[in-house]
Amino acid sequence: MPTSLPRSVLVVGSGGREHALVRALHASPAQPRVICAPGNAGIAQDAACFAIAADDIAGLVALAQRERIEFVVVGPEVPLSLGLADQLIAAGIPVYGPKADGARLEASKIFTKKILLKHRIPTAPAAFFSEVAPALAYVRTRSIPIVIKADGLAAGKGVVVAQSAAEAESAVRDMLEGGRFGASGSQLLVEDCLFGEETSILVVVSGRDYVILPTSQDHKRIGDGDTGPNTGGMGTYSPAEVVTPALLERIDREIVRPSVDAIAAEGIDYCGTLFIGIMLTPSGPSVIEYNARFGDPETQVVLPRLATDVLGLLWAATTRRLAGLTLALRPEHAMCVVIAAKGYPDAYAKGDVITFPAALPPGVSILHAGTARKPTGEMVMNGGRVLGVTALAPTLREAADNAYAVCDQIGCVSKVYRRDIGARQLNRTP
Ligand code: AMP
Ligand code: GLY
Repeated sequence: MPTSLPRSVLVVGSGGREHALVRALHASPAQPRVICAPGNAGIAQDAACFAIAADDIAGLVALAQRERIEFVVVGPEVPLSLGLADQLIAAGIPVYGPKADGARLEASKIFTKKILLKHRIPTAPAAFFSEVAPALAYVRTRSIPIVIKADGLAAGKGVVVAQSAAEAESAVRDMLEGGRFGASGSQLLVEDCLFGEETSILVVVSGRDYVILPTSQDHKRIGDGDTGPNTGGMGTYSPAEVVTPALLERIDREIVRPSVDAIAAEGIDYCGTLFIGIMLTPSGPSVIEYNARFGDPETQVVLPRLATDVLGLLWAATTRRLAGLTLALRPEHAMCVVIAAKGYPDAYAKGDVITFPAALPPGVSILHAGTARKPTGEMVMNGGRVLGVTALAPTLREAADNAYAVCDQIGCVSKVYRRDIGARQLNRTP
């Protein structure tokens, strides 16, 4: 594989994460040609978009060949678990993103829990079931709240933190009998509930070498004060100062290094982002989950904080030259506030016209997630998460003020967004 930086990059996906990736790759001093599939109306302002779905593996490989793409960066988990990286490698096209065996770390929570337990990586105790009666019997032996998780991919919705035995029972029945998650729910985990603050640790992995990206914290619930149902993520900030340098060192020693080693020991040659969801419990950090990709909306706050060239970083991982690479970080704080469509994460309306402020404050950018352009040229809502307003500023308070000023100015009848992104950290810092 050539070591000189690639001259053309295909980003696969269509959300805010991919918009952030496209922007970061564009900013590379190597000035690559950046294209995206399928992209969205906002990404199309920055890169040529090709209407090939993220799960059309053959179509994406053919696109990369036709466009003479030298490097593919994959955003979402679905193409990875369908073997997009395997197919690209077979076609001789370098790719950042794990092969299907690595993507299984996200696609099967049981597979991952077994690895965590086997390698003694801190995680909540759990048991696995495919029948209702033994699952309910196990629930009765544990304390409430208790966590019920569908084994497979469920777009972030396959986890129920049950606050009563009755809620646990209906979650178990829903998944195993109701077919609520299809094949993804034919097996489940019953897991002890962890308490504490969550943090997202994104790690660029290349075999046994890795680099930890800046810390961040997501806000998963739809409502202020962490109320209402879980979503894909309603907002993020970076750095997450709850992760002090000493705590990050502990997370590295107890979780990141053992995880990378365990994955390699299981015979998985992992190249891509390993996103470790961690609960900071009173007794120490504990793994909630692995994701086999960049987080959304974590990426929107993590990438802008890198002074290191993102293309160079991902290419170093893919070409196995990550060892010894140290990241240069920007000192600013970043915040991303997600604007969603009213109703999300359940049914929501599409088609509302969106208007944008004429000018943005310094350090603010609007990343598109679910937008489309009408033939008349108007930008309209076309997804549950619609936009992410990202701000980079000397303090988190300024980042929040700037991001929210722009959120307020975006015109869109049924926009909803949380008002308290970053509140935990802002309330800690007087
Ligand atoms: P996951 O799909 O595994 O990321 O889970 C979604 C969300 O459910 C997590 O971000 C947590 O907020 C919550 N969650 C998952 N597992 C646990 C657990 N064992 N204890 C408490 N909360 C959990
Ligand atoms: N923001 C959480 C995720 O990407 O899964």
